[in-house]
Amino acid sequence: SAAMRQDILDLINLLPEDVRKLLEAVRDTAGEEGCSVYLVGGFVRDLLLSVPTQDLDFVVEGSGGQFAQALMRRMPDGKLTQHFKFGTAQISFPDGSHLDIASTRWEHYSFPGALPQVEESCLRDDLFRRDFTINSMAICLNTERYGELVDYYGGKQDLQQRKIRFLHNLSFIDDPTRMLRAIRFKERYQFDFAKETLDALHTAIETGVLSKLSVERFTEEILLIFKEANYLAMGQILVKSGLFKAWFGEELAWNFDLDNAEESLDWSLNMRWLISVSQMESAGIEQLLERVSLNKSLRDDTIAYLNLRESLMKPLTLGEMDRLLNKSPKEVVMALARDERFKKQITGCLEAAQRINMSLDGKALIEMGVKQGPEIGEILDWVRTAWLEGKISSSEEEQGIARQWVNSLR
Ligand code: CTP
Repeated sequence: SAAMRQDILDLINLLPEDVRKLLEAVRDTAGEEGCSVYLVGGFVRDLLLSVPTQDLDFVVEGSGGQFAQALMRRMPDGKLTQHFKFGTAQISFPDGSHLDIASTRWEHYSFPGALPQVEESCLRDDLFRRDFTINSMAICLNTERYGELVDYYGGKQDLQQRKIRFLHNLSFIDDPTRMLRAIRFKERYQFDFAKETLDALHTAIETGVLSKLSVERFTEEILLIFKEANYLAMGQILVKSGLFKAWFGEELAWNFDLDNAEESLDWSLNMRWLISVSQMESAGIEQLLERVSLNKSLRDDTIAYLNLRESLMKPLTLGEMDRLLNKSPKEVVMALARDERFKKQITGCLEAAQRINMSLDGKALIEMGVKQGPEIGEILDWVRTAWLEGKISSSEEEQGIARQWVNSLR
C-alpha cells in the first residue's frame, strides 16, 4: 500500500548517507540495465525493526553478473568477486564492508568454452528458499517502485507478532544450521517460536537431522551465537532443547547461568567460551574439542585453560603460582579467577604481584659482577618471589638481598 511504502521510505531516509547513496546507485544501475532489483533478507528485517544493519543483500531479476559489473562503474573503490557456481557476486570496499548480489537468472557454463546455460526463476522462488518468514521479505529499489515491500509469506505480520516461523516444513532438513539460527533470532529479538516451528525443531533434533551438518558449519553457527549480546539465553535453549546433547553425544555441564549476566556483555568471545565450559570436567572439555573446529586462538586458550586448571589443583608456592599465571593468557586467568575453587588463590597472587616494584634487572646484576647466563634469570626469579612473599618492600631492601645472593654465589 501507499502508506506502507511511505513508512519504508521514511525508514530509508533515516539510514546513514553512504548507505542511502548506495541504494540510489543500485536504483540507477537497475534503470540503465532494465532489470528489477530488490533489497532482501536480514537488512529488510532489521530496517522494519528500526535496527538497520551493515550487510546489504540484493536480488536481481535478470543477469546478476551483468548488473554487478554495471554497478561497479559507480563504485570506483569497490572490488568485484563473482561466484559463478553459486550465481552470486560480492563487491567489497576498503573499509571492510561489502554488498552481496544474487540473481534469479544466472549464466553458468557446463564446461569451459560451452555456451552459457541460463537458468530462470523468479523472486518468489528465491524468497521461498529462505529460512524464516521474517527473513523472506524484499524491498523493490526500481525508480517507479522504490520502497515497495514484497512480502509473499507474511513476514511483516510475523515481525509485528514477534514470531519466528520457518517458511516450509523442510526448512531444517534442507539446512540444519537453521535450527541454530532459529534460536539465535528468537533470543536476539526476544520473539517466540510459532507452534509448528517449535514442533519441527523438536522433531528435527529427535530424528538426528544434525548429523548432516559438518563440524565446521556447526562451529561457525555456535560462534555466531557466542557473539550475540544475549548468548546466555541462547545457550540455555541449546541445552534445554536437547540440541547440544544430540550434537555432542552427551549432556555436558555447560554454564550459561550467571549470577551477574550483565558483566558478560563486556567479555570477549574467548572469555565467554571459557566461562561456558568452566563447570565441565577435563574429560568433557576434551570431548567437546573433538566435536568442534575452533580457530587457533580459541583452541589454544581452551587448552591453556585446561592445563592451568589442572596445575591449580595441586598445592603451589606463591612463586610457582605467579610464574604459572604469568605465562597463561590473560583471559584464561580471568576465567579461572571466577571459579570458586581458585578465586582466593588467584586474586591473592595477583594482588601480591601488584605490590612488586622491582628495579633490579639483568643489566644491574651484570654490573654487580654476575656472569651472563642462566644465573641472572634465577636471581631475578628469587627477587621477584621475595617481593611476592613480602620479604622485600623497598628498593633498598631489594638491593641488599640481591647483593647477599651475588656474594654467596662467588
Ligand atoms: N538464509 C537462509 N538460510 C540460511 C542462511 C541464510 O535462508 N541458513 C537467508 C535468509 O533470508 C537471510 C539471508 O539469507 O536473511 C542472509 O543471511 P545472513 O547474512 O546469514 O543472515 P541475516 O539474516 O543477515 O542475519 P544476521 O543479522 O545475523 O547477519
